[in-house]
Amino acid sequence: MTQVRIPRRRFLTQSAFAASAAFAMPSIVRASTLKKELHVAAIGVNGMGWSDLSNVGSHPSVKFVGFCDIDASRFDKADGAFPDVPHFADYRQLLSDLGEKIDAVIVATPDHMHAPIAMKAMRLGKHIYCQKPLTHTVWEARQMRLLAEQKKLTTQMGNQIHSNAEYRTGVKLIQDGVIGKIREVHSWVGVQGRQYCNRTDRPADAPVPEGVNWDLWLGAAPARPFAADVYHPFKWRDWQAFGSGAMGDFGCHILDPVFTALELRAPTSIEAANDGTNSEVWPGPETITFEFPGTKHTVGGTLKVIWRDGGLKPPAELAQLPEGVELPGAGSLFIGEGGVMVLPHVAMPLLYPQSKFASFAMPKVEARNHWHDWVDAVLTGQKTTDGFEYAGPLSETVQLGNIAARLPRTKLEWKTETMAITGHENAAALLTKTYRNGFEVEPVG
Ligand SMILES: NC(=O)c1ccc[n+]([C@@H]2O[C@H](COP(=O)([O-])OP(=O)(O)OC[C@H]3O[C@@H](n4cnc5c(N)ncnc54)[C@H](O)[C@@H]3O)[C@@H](O)[C@H]2O)c1
Repeated sequence: MTQVRIPRRRFLTQSAFAASAAFAMPSIVRASTLKKELHVAAIGVNGMGWSDLSNVGSHPSVKFVGFCDIDASRFDKADGAFPDVPHFADYRQLLSDLGEKIDAVIVATPDHMHAPIAMKAMRLGKHIYCQKPLTHTVWEARQMRLLAEQKKLTTQMGNQIHSNAEYRTGVKLIQDGVIGKIREVHSWVGVQGRQYCNRTDRPADAPVPEGVNWDLWLGAAPARPFAADVYHPFKWRDWQAFGSGAMGDFGCHILDPVFTALELRAPTSIEAANDGTNSEVWPGPETITFEFPGTKHTVGGTLKVIWRDGGLKPPAELAQLPEGVELPGAGSLFIGEGGVMVLPHVAMPLLYPQSKFASFAMPKVEARNHWHDWVDAVLTGQKTTDGFEYAGPLSETVQLGNIAARLPRTKLEWKTETMAITGHENAAALLTKTYRNGFEVEPVG
């Protein structure tokens, strides 16, 4: 995925806060009390971790104090851009050795290690930028939200498109009532849950490559032997023990403007359909139907949000598309009382029927810098728009979808206050998982 990177030199010509007008400081925050430099450690420094650390590092107030990766061959890009930052293979060592030298931590490892790392860092009072999905399980997402709140930390989830002009414009149109109150939403993505390894069983063992610490890569997950080209890097997504399938990979992106625009918090029921699954990999093409309590932006007492992946799309006629126009490869379709909005992933929203919106003037909504907004918020003590207070419930919903995916054709009922899930005898067990010794996540007391 292409990331926006503001060159450090260009950014330095602007004030650190000029780019953050929306983070205007309240008068009680005096400029003299603000921290001038933020000391950041990055955990997982290649893949999306490189994108995150380069974007965070382009903020003039950021100084990196530690880089951590379990693969010694993957520090090159980070070292090239930010030389002389100490290396670690084990995040626990980094946190204990650097201690008070760290203010904030970027977590960009595979999904199964987000919570063990971020929770440990938050217990030490570190502010967190954590990749999406926030966590690997529903229970972890709840703990992350509670701990960030308890410790009063500044957090941001790494679904950076939240801050793009396209999604922000879509949110504005819905909240301005341009298509009226919303009756139903359909969201979809082309990828499917097990597309990178194309297998349903574990491969034969292979020698661990030089420089890779396989035990640390496994972390909280039950031990299994290394195999080449199926887990590390990137392909771990297919495996239930490490990744979160298509829903986890794209749900926190594509459902994000749906959540923000409609102010959704938690579904009351979830039901999935797919062609069957096993306990190793995520299913192929799937449909997951969420029912939410209605909000001030929706029609009636409940709202259905229907997710599809693996090439499944909503019926095109729902969008009232003009002749010859097709639905985009990924995005959301908001069906309102007074029209329809297609919000592609990632492009400007489109309003239909065309005849009704032919002379509609699209409002100008500025993009924001997702990474710099987090840094500025840490430095000024302000709130982010994608902190764990928001990202926790969004990630809980995504992982509830993944519970339903493992128990297809069963309507699961969810009571968010008590974290109770009913409808299938195995559902409650899937809210959480067991942790390997040394990588536990402790509940928030
Ligand atoms: N926001 C986005 O657009 C976007 C795009 C891609 C990936 N992601 C997310 O970013 C995260 C990483 O995905 P990726 O595609 O970069 O994966 P990847 O496997 O390509 O890269 C992960 C990096 O972390 C390192 N690593 C793995 N386990 C580690 C550990 N325990 N401690 C320290 N380092 C460790 C790996 O060696 C590697 O350098 C995932 O959560 C993924 O969902 C987000």
